Amino acid sequence: MDFSALKQKEHQYVKEVLDFGWHNTRSAGFTGRLEKQFAHRFGVEYGITHSNGTATMHSCLAAAGVGPGDEVIIPPLTAASTALVVIHQNAVPVFADIDPETFEIAPESIRERITPYTKAIIPVALYGMAPDMDAIMEIARQHDLVVIEDNAECYLGEYKGRIVGSIGDMASFSFQGSKHITCGDGGIVITDNEEYAERVRKAAVLGYSTLTADPGATAIPKEIRQDPAFERHTVLGWNYRLPELCSAVALAQLEHLEDLVKWRQNVAGRYAEVIEGCDWLVPQRVPEGLTHTYWCYTVLLKAEEIGITWHQFRDQYVEFGGEPIYGAWRPVHLEPVFRDENFYGKGCPNRCPLYKGTPQKYEEGLCPVVERIQPNLLQFRTNYDDQRADRQMEALTRTIAYFEGSS
Ligand SMILES: Cc1ncc(COP(=O)(O)O)c(C=O)c1O
Repeated sequence: MDFSALKQKEHQYVKEVLDFGWHNTRSAGFTGRLEKQFAHRFGVEYGITHSNGTATMHSCLAAAGVGPGDEVIIPPLTAASTALVVIHQNAVPVFADIDPETFEIAPESIRERITPYTKAIIPVALYGMAPDMDAIMEIARQHDLVVIEDNAECYLGEYKGRIVGSIGDMASFSFQGSKHITCGDGGIVITDNEEYAERVRKAAVLGYSTLTADPGATAIPKEIRQDPAFERHTVLGWNYRLPELCSAVALAQLEHLEDLVKWRQNVAGRYAEVIEGCDWLVPQRVPEGLTHTYWCYTVLLKAEEIGITWHQFRDQYVEFGGEPIYGAWRPVHLEPVFRDENFYGKGCPNRCPLYKGTPQKYEEGLCPVVERIQPNLLQFRTNYDDQRADRQMEALTRTIAYFEGSS
């Protein structure tokens, strides 16, 4: 990937923001351009930028009317953000287990966890690939649930001919430092539904009464704001605005998105070639009709089969010149904040008087598939330039040969 054209554009756009300066109700217009172009690229009507890809989901839940007494079904293999935003709405996160081969949330497990209190599902496009969205949407339609796609890691992914992000009711993306598009931190919600778009906008900008779904509509016109009788806040909101400087960088990257995605797909393809034929390293399965965008390349180490541990593999890989590999996040339900229900200190949301369901116990055994698989997942980074990628391939080749020789 040639980064020089991208860098030049980033600098040019940032300079335009700096030259324009800072004003309360006027801006250089990059947030509006980013929102419009992003939505257009994903084939939907509305885009609403946010300060990060956690805030995005919080706004979506608020827009969907999720609150105390409601349950939201989520996967346990994800960044904790997907679960924490549910708690932030004082709703109950319900964890559905994963598929052992795709590592994605399993529709049959979602079905088992539906109750009269279920209000929404947040399917995660894990590591850059969509889960089984047809099955998820069917369940959602049957039970009248809102679907919020967490696509923090998935840009331009395809699901049976559709672009990932255009299937659920709303979709969330992250511009955090490791993502396909990054401006350090940031995020965006996209949707085709004007009502949701407006509610997301209001949730993200302090609940200002005049805000609309229009691109860049993040401020109240001066003449209205100057009136001392003006009632600003009609709904509950937060301040999740994305600064113009970040919008400028994210827009430059959006305009190079195809290349940014292909770059990662190419590096993933090289890992795939190296592990081909190795039966104790099993990559995330890509079902037919799906395009994986490889935020990272993830492999299950069949530790018992080869008789080595995750740490032994990693240490040897590093010894052979590879950069330290990442393990997968621990299943979210086993993180201490969930295990100990260390939320609001007053029993909420699980023992909130408004919650009539069965209090969740976040403990081992809740999602046996993820609990078995997660400790042996190896996440290889894909955002390496050619030389660094060469070193990873060499290290991986040597590591496989080393353990095959000694097994
Ligand atoms: C699957 C997933 N969801 C949500 C997030 C949260 O995004 P952010 O860090 O922008 O808040 C991330 C990444 O950080 C993620 O990987």
